[in-house]
This record gives sequence, structure tokens and C-alpha cells, in this order.
Amino acid sequence: MATLRLGDLAPDFEQDSSLGKIRFHDYLGDSWGVLFSHPADYTPVCTTELGYTAKLADEFAKRNVKVLALSVDDTSSHQGWIQDINETQNTQVNFPIIADPDRVVSELYDMIHPNASETVTVRSVFVIDPSKKVRLIITYPASTGRNFNEILRVIDSLQLTDNYSVATPVNWEDGQDVIIVPSLQDPEVIKAKFPKGHTEIRPYLRITPQPNK
Ligand code: BEZ
Repeated sequence: MATLRLGDLAPDFEQDSSLGKIRFHDYLGDSWGVLFSHPADYTPVCTTELGYTAKLADEFAKRNVKVLALSVDDTSSHQGWIQDINETQNTQVNFPIIADPDRVVSELYDMIHPNASETVTVRSVFVIDPSKKVRLIITYPASTGRNFNEILRVIDSLQLTDNYSVATPVNWEDGQDVIIVPSLQDPEVIKAKFPKGHTEIRPYLRITPQPNK
């Protein structure tokens, strides 16, 4: 299949998971989604990633995001491993881990990079919006655990920039100043959209307080 790109429709699938059979688009419903792969069950880096993600349950819920993990192992392996994650990471994994032993989802989402490994997935992350469009793709090597605070940060940026004529600057965190999009030029429109005012550092670089705070 062709490589998935930003803006593409996230491929739908039906696959077994630690919480039973899941049809992906139906499962997401009107929520945002984070679909992330890990190389294999009972591996140390993944154990810490899934534990930390479980601890972020309230943060994902606040943002209307459903999280799904995936590996090429089967559901009975997932069930045993979840017990381990809960015990060692002091949490409760409350999101599904998709079982992909036939690699249907791994292929659809191009999660197996044969020159890295023929048999297991790399660490892929896909953020999917409520219209099922792919909005973020991150690929990490197997030996590097991901930063799930960064995934939340990007979701904050996507949800903000979808609703206001702004972009978010380097290292931006929710609550900090943002950038007025360069396409917005009419001074009256700018005044109406950004009543808290703005600072023009350059005509193309205009800073304003985050509009929804
Ligand atoms: C893992 O925990 O997934 C892992 C650890 C070391 C190298 C590759 C993967």
C-alpha cells in the first residue's frame, strides 16, 4: 500500500484486542484517536510506555481522545502482559491493545520497516481527528521510548489551531502565547479575532495570548 501521509483518511480495520473485537472507526466514534505500535509484548521499554499512557487516562479523556496500542502478539499474550504492566508500573491499563498477529493493521499503517526489523513493528504513533483524518505521524526506533507528554502537547496544538487562526511556536505548551497565521492580514479582522491584542515583531511574526484562555 501507499505510505500514509498527513491529511489521509486513517484506514479502518477490524481486529481482536485485549478488550475484544474492535472496528476502528466505530470504536473512535466522535473522538480523537491515538494509535501507537510497539515492537512486542513483555519488552521493557514498551512496559514503561504503556504504564505511563495508562496514567495519562484523565489527560486523554479531557481532550476527547481514545488511545489504542498495538503489537503483532496475540490477545492471550496481551492479557498476561497487562497484568505485568499494572503490577510493575503501579497503574491500570484501561485502553485496548490490538492483537495483530496477521499484521493486517501493521501493513495498513506501514508499521513494519523491514530494514529495521522484518518481524516486529517500529514505534509508530498516529493521531487521528474526529473526521478520521491522520493529523500526526511519529516514528521512533525500537530502542527509544516515546514522550507521551509530547503527544498530548501536539493534540493541544491541533485542537487549538483547528478552532482559531493561530499556529503554535517552538516548544509551545498549553496556555502560552501563540502566533497569528500569516494569511490573516485584515487589521479589523485581527482586532475582532484577537481582542486581547497582539505584538508585531515582524509583519510575518505576530504574537498574541492564547485566545481560548
Ligand atoms: C523494548 O523494550 O522494546 C526494546 C528494548 C531494547 C531494544 C529494543 C527494544
